[in-house]
This record gives sequence, structure tokens and C-alpha cells, in this order.
Amino acid sequence: MDILETNRLFLRQFKPDDWEDLYEYLSLEEVVKYEPYDVKSKEECRREAFNRSKNTGFWAVCLKDNKKLIGNIYFQQQEPEDFMTWELGYVFNPQYYGEGYATEASEKMLEYGFEKLDVHRITAGCNPDNTSSWRLLERLKMRREGYFIKPIFFKRDANRQPVWQDAYQYAILKEEWFKRNK
Ligand SMILES: CC(C)(COP(=O)(O)OP(=O)(O)OC[C@H]1O[C@@H](n2cnc3c(N)ncnc32)[C@H](O)[C@@H]1OP(=O)(O)O)[C@@H](O)C(=O)NCCC(=O)NCCS
Repeated sequence: MDILETNRLFLRQFKPDDWEDLYEYLSLEEVVKYEPYDVKSKEECRREAFNRSKNTGFWAVCLKDNKKLIGNIYFQQQEPEDFMTWELGYVFNPQYYGEGYATEASEKMLEYGFEKLDVHRITAGCNPDNTSSWRLLERLKMRREGYFIKPIFFKRDANRQPVWQDAYQYAILKEEWFKRNK
């Protein structure tokens, strides 16, 4: 897995000993509210860091200054392979919100996808209530392509009933990326 560099950040493969930095944010309810999993314990974060160290879909985002892991990017090819379509996701430590780090890391991921991997299309989905997420996608100049009504659920209520949620679909094509970066 490559190491990517931006002005303030490194994006690199996860290591098993990243678990403590991961725990700092994956243990928070506000962070996992729109994620397909619940808050994680220390033990679960140990496992998660280990699993991510074997998974090229997850990138650890670290500050160049002090090497602190402040969040992660998910960047994974979707099936079928021939479509050359990748999905983008991001989860950051709230202590580092509001500084543009998620934008900086995601922008690099788009550049890597289109300019190194020759990706055709990059997609991202989010809950319309997750304003920080879709604002980030708009900063990346991804297009809002759809508003799906209750297509998915990640959590169940106290009666074990699915909590259906709406979803925005965003995307950007290779030609759009190159047109705007010419
Ligand atoms: C989604 C998430 C990563 C967005 O984090 P964020 O801090 O808002 O995003 P950025 O790091 O790009 O920072 C943007 C903010 O910093 C400000 N900013 C400061 N310096 C900046 C810079 N150099 N570049 C861009 N923005 C900058 C922007 O104005 C913006 O602030 P605003 O929202 O008040 O307008 C974060 O809320 C998160 O991790 N949420 C929990 C997990 C989650 O829901 N993930 C998405 C599931 S779909």
C-alpha cells in the first residue's frame, strides 16, 4: 500500500498498534451515529486495528507534525471490477473536526484514484441528516445524484425493528476530475 502525503497529513496503511488512536474516536456515540456499527470497546479496537492492517480499503490519516492518527478514509473498489468504481468514506476524531483535515485527506484520495489507479467513478453515500458529511462531499465537488428514501438500515430499535434511513448518493467521474483540475 502506498503512503500518500498532503500539506499537513500522511495517509498510510493501518498498523495493529493504531488501536488506541482508533479507540479515541470509535468509542464515541456521536462518531458512529451514522455508521453501520456501534461504539467499539478497547478489545474491539485492538481487533479492528489488526484487521485494518490487512485490509487495503482502510487508510489511516495521520498528522505530519506529530504522527497522531486523527481519522480514517475508506476507499474500496466496488463490483463488478470492470466498472472501475470505488466508494469513498471517512470517519474522524472529533478533536480534529473543523480544520479541513477530512477534506484534505479525501481530496488526496480522489487524486490517487483518478490519477494513479485510473478509476472511472468514485461514489459516496450519506444520511441527509449528516450535514457535516454531505457538506464535505460538496466541498469535494462531488455531484449529488440521488436521494433515496429508506433504502437501508444500520441499527435496530429497542423492539429489534430496523431503523430505516434515507440516503444521499454522491459521485464524481474521472472526466469531471480532470476537467476541474486542468
Ligand atoms: C464527516 C466528518 C469527517 C466531517 O468532518 P469536518 O471536520 O466537518 O470536515 P473537514 O475536516 O473537512 O473540515 C471542514 C470544516 O473545517 C473548516 N475548515 C477550516 N480549515 C479548512 C481548510 N483548510 N480546508 C477546508 N475546510 C476548512 C471548514 O470551513 C468546515 O467548517 P464548517 O463545517 O463549520 O463549515 C466528521 O464529521 C466525522 O468524522 N463524522 C463522524 C463519522 C461520519 O459520520 N462519517 C460519515 C458517514 S457517511
